[in-house]
Amino acid sequence: MNDLTDLFQSVAGRVKPPVCVALGPPWPVANLVEAVAAPGTVCYQMDLHQADRVRDCLAEVGSGAEVVAKPDLWDLGPTFETVVFPAAAYADRELKIDMVEQAYHVLKPGGVLVSLSGYERDNQFAKWHKKVFGKCGQTPASKAGMAFWSVRGEDQKRRRHEVAFHAKLPDGPPMEVISRPGTFSYGRFDNGSRAMVEVADVRPGESVLDLGCGNGAVGCLLGGKVGPAGSVTFVDSNLRAVALAELNAAANNTPNPKFVTATRLEGLARRSFDVIVANPPYYAKSEITQLFVQGSRELLRPGGRYYIVTKLPTAVVPMIFQTFGDCSVIENRGYSVVMAGVGGPPPLAGGMIPRVV
Ligand SMILES: C[S@@+](CC[C@H](N)C(=O)[O-])C[C@H]1O[C@@H](n2cnc3c(N)ncnc32)[C@H](O)[C@@H]1O
Repeated sequence: MNDLTDLFQSVAGRVKPPVCVALGPPWPVANLVEAVAAPGTVCYQMDLHQADRVRDCLAEVGSGAEVVAKPDLWDLGPTFETVVFPAAAYADRELKIDMVEQAYHVLKPGGVLVSLSGYERDNQFAKWHKKVFGKCGQTPASKAGMAFWSVRGEDQKRRRHEVAFHAKLPDGPPMEVISRPGTFSYGRFDNGSRAMVEVADVRPGESVLDLGCGNGAVGCLLGGKVGPAGSVTFVDSNLRAVALAELNAAANNTPNPKFVTATRLEGLARRSFDVIVANPPYYAKSEITQLFVQGSRELLRPGGRYYIVTKLPTAVVPMIFQTFGDCSVIENRGYSVVMAGVGGPPPLAGGMIPRVV
């Protein structure tokens, strides 16, 4: 992403403090905060890890801007004269639409939303602005991207962007799961997660950790297996994901649910889980996968079982060997589910034969 600061200069005259910089990658956000150069600027993020990175970049440019992490932008209340939304080109379309909607509700009447798009010719943002704000101004197409602005009018009802889908285990009831933009697998149950829950051996009364829970679909499905005497803990670094997991666990009667927001597995007790299931994000040079593997071992009880799904078994298996000493792998739905145990690899659900690598 170009850092959008040049583009911002073309609309800087429309910006009045206090300003909220909504989402955006860490360095572009820090550079924008410098360009805004106004007291009281707040940077909104929905992921704790990303929020920490924004804080680091702000510290490097010597800015004292506050970084606030919440599930929804509109949780900040109607306190800003300007919202600047640096829309990463790779951000989901649905997340962009959601931010335009939510920005309306954090602006004071007469406040301005400025969306910055890295695309040379962006023919989407004006449409989304008009739908929510009624009118939209824009800069001409240019190599630096395009800027769009709109002024907030009267109070209007919040429109929540979300999609429900159904997920089920072969031998379980269908469950309805709500998903929202900005969290993994919007509008559908991920096939990798499906491949994992289908082979995980989970028994009544056990305590399960859904590591990197996203909307919580995996934990909700396994909640049906552990039954009322069991429990499911949901953990994610994304606050919107954890809020969704709470919603979905309540709707699906997940037994004894617990919810943790964390970036380094903090807040999870050692030796407290019988089963850990993980579908980690495969970015940041496997850094999170390493965390999800290495950090898990001490969270498992003796005899505990660990499942991780991947398309890159050659990268994951060595990590598992290093941490657990042994593992087995099963191919399901085009994914590899790597399994390990504290005290040897675990048995498989449904009598499947592992392909050991
Ligand atoms: C591939 S998604 C899987 C989501 C969910 N289990 C599913 O199947 O739909 C990976 C999840 O890990 C979360 N995550 C990334 N880094 C994390 C960290 N350091 N600690 C906890 N969760 C993290 C992401 O926010 C994301 O929800």
